[in-house]
Amino acid sequence: MNQSVILQLQNITKTFPGRTGLATNSQSTAVLDDVSLTLNHGELLGLLGPSGCGKTTLLRIVGGFESISGGTVAIAGKVVATNCESLAAEKRHTGMVFQDYALFPHLTVAENIAFGLKRQKNSSKGSKGLFTRQHQPSIEQRVGEILHLVGLKGFEQRYPHQLSGGQQQRISLARALAPEPALILLDEPLSNLDVQVRHRLRAEIRAILKAAGTSAIFVTHDREEALAISDKIAVMHQGKIEQIGTPEEVYLNPATHFVAEFVTQANFLPATKQGEVWVTEIGKISASISQPNKVTTGDLMLRPEDITLVADPHSKIVVRERQFLGREYYYGVETASGKIIYARMGLTTAIAVGTRVNLSLNINTPQIFGIN
Ligand SMILES: Nc1ncnc2c1ncn2[C@@H]1O[C@H](COP(=O)(O)OP(=O)(O)OP(=O)(O)O)[C@@H](O)[C@H]1O
Ligand SMILES: [Mg+2]
Repeated sequence: MNQSVILQLQNITKTFPGRTGLATNSQSTAVLDDVSLTLNHGELLGLLGPSGCGKTTLLRIVGGFESISGGTVAIAGKVVATNCESLAAEKRHTGMVFQDYALFPHLTVAENIAFGLKRQKNSSKGSKGLFTRQHQPSIEQRVGEILHLVGLKGFEQRYPHQLSGGQQQRISLARALAPEPALILLDEPLSNLDVQVRHRLRAEIRAILKAAGTSAIFVTHDREEALAISDKIAVMHQGKIEQIGTPEEVYLNPATHFVAEFVTQANFLPATKQGEVWVTEIGKISASISQPNKVTTGDLMLRPEDITLVADPHSKIVVRERQFLGREYYYGVETASGKIIYARMGLTTAIAVGTRVNLSLNINTPQIFGIN
């Protein structure tokens, strides 16, 4: 395996006993179905998908808290799990951060952080984990260093109940980072926090992980959070990874209809191919399609920001709602067939509800997702 690869998942499947399956065309009961991905050292992977798609299960598999039914997990070039064997969680040198912080309420901040370090010292006695360190700072030194990194120096003697939610989550990140794990696994760490703290903390978490040089997997079902925090995003749907790419790649070139819908919140309009163009109810359009020869019907993808509304009293499209979002207006317009399409536009012109409009496209070649 390439030296720069910290995590490699190959063809992972996971079945829970007695579960009815995701796949409708087989007897399979897989919660994860043929999941493969590669994470490089220092990279931050966002694992994005709707509730129940298998994100936590995949994270627990990497951490060693869940077995696999097929495939292999390798960390830093060493296979740590197959369907027959599994390296114990404490020897994988990963750190977990949970949604509910999971701090020990009766221990101070310093004791919470030191807990992981003491456990590491004990478990490394006579055992062979994945990594061994040349020089180990004292526990006290390391607690100080790591509190400095998460911006909470001076909070050593506080108890968790004396901290805000955002501070508690930074302490739980500090606790996970203190033993210098090869990989940090974060399961929706921000979902208990209010929106302003979330926004601030997602930037802070990224900065802290980058400063520590740690590789990480960050699970979320919030697309904006995934786009903001990740170097790479893996979009999951029903136990499969539908696309892996940079946030820009996934947003600008979604590989599947699901990714387009989930990540870009795009509108879709039925389209039929006629010669070189696609016919839709808003007109004939030149569009790109990934399966160019076979497919003659599909869905035209239009992101809200791809559309400009232009007033036209003769149009059959009518503005039905307008939301003021601070920097922009968000419009819902109804087409002749009764479909609602959403558009985002700047504040320079405010179009009143009830106005008839045409849709002018801001992109040259929108994308079509074919229907076979
Ligand atoms: N121990 C278990 N036994 C049986 N089924 C399970 C078990 N753990 C998870 N599942 C099922 O596996 C599927 C994936 O669960 P998982 O917790 O991985 O989803 P998730 O993507 O993390 O969802 P969420 O965003 O809601 O946290 C779900 O249908 C869930 O019910
Ligand atoms: Mg989950």
